[in-house]
Amino acid sequence: MQVVETIAAMRGARHGFEGLGFVPTMGFLHQGHLSLVARAKAECGAAAVSIFVNPTQFGPNEDLARYPRDLPRDLALLREAGADVVFTPQPAEIYPPGFATAIDVGPVADPLEGASRPGHFSGVATVVAKLFNIVQPTRAYFGQKDAQQTVVIRRMARDLDMPLEVVVAPTVREGDGLAMSSRNTYLSPEQRGAATVLFRALSEAERRFAAGERDGEALRRAMLAVLAQEPAAQVDYVSVADPDTLKELQRIERGALASMAVRIGATRLIDNLLL
Ligand code: PAJ
Repeated sequence: MQVVETIAAMRGARHGFEGLGFVPTMGFLHQGHLSLVARAKAECGAAAVSIFVNPTQFGPNEDLARYPRDLPRDLALLREAGADVVFTPQPAEIYPPGFATAIDVGPVADPLEGASRPGHFSGVATVVAKLFNIVQPTRAYFGQKDAQQTVVIRRMARDLDMPLEVVVAPTVREGDGLAMSSRNTYLSPEQRGAATVLFRALSEAERRFAAGERDGEALRRAMLAVLAQEPAAQVDYVSVADPDTLKELQRIERGALASMAVRIGATRLIDNLLL
């Protein structure tokens, strides 16, 4: 496994592979990330992973400074998972003095996470575009866990004719349903218990949808009712939206994306299910 820190070294390493599956990450890896690496390796023959805590996607009052980091542990996990190249640039390598360009993908970046985190998806789209240009993968792998991020990246790749395939893989969960996330490490044992309420609320929406409920507002209310049972949970948003446009749905004709952001103490968690 090669570990490279510079754009030049990454470009050098790229020449060694024909097909290359790419998994962009911010590190502090868990099984969710590693499932993407395994799939990239299996489907493309070789896997590249980036570890970069991207400052431009964090708001001024967000957790950039305390975002968890453990590079030695991440590298050991990636070696085990069969990664071929790991790109670990310093911020100045990605954002040299004078850097000024930003990508705006339009309306799909506005609701949900975009409304709560202004500028977040411009930061995501810009860094992912740069990483695509640096790594030049044949396929790039993203988790359904960050549903709106997958919509934003797909929009960008299509609109800008990026020569790669975007693949979205299922959310990996803990035994009790909590979606794996690097941010789960912020939770105290008590908060960790309370955090299961997100999946319970989403499961309630799924149960009602399976029983025939097609009223978006009824499903949003059902999720809010479950969340209200957990005193430690503070709802940021609850949504039942079109999976492609991310517009809130009154009536579900085909499918829907049920999603939410909930604060447990100071930790903001997101999760979703496709109905
Ligand atoms: P990060 O949060 O580290 O996630 C990296 C990738 O792992 C994303 O595609 C994310 O959706 C996926 N992932 C996270 N938790 C998952 C889970 N429980 N199951 C399946 N996949 C999961 O997302 C980012 O980093 C950044 O925004 C990035 C794309 C790297 C740009 O900076």
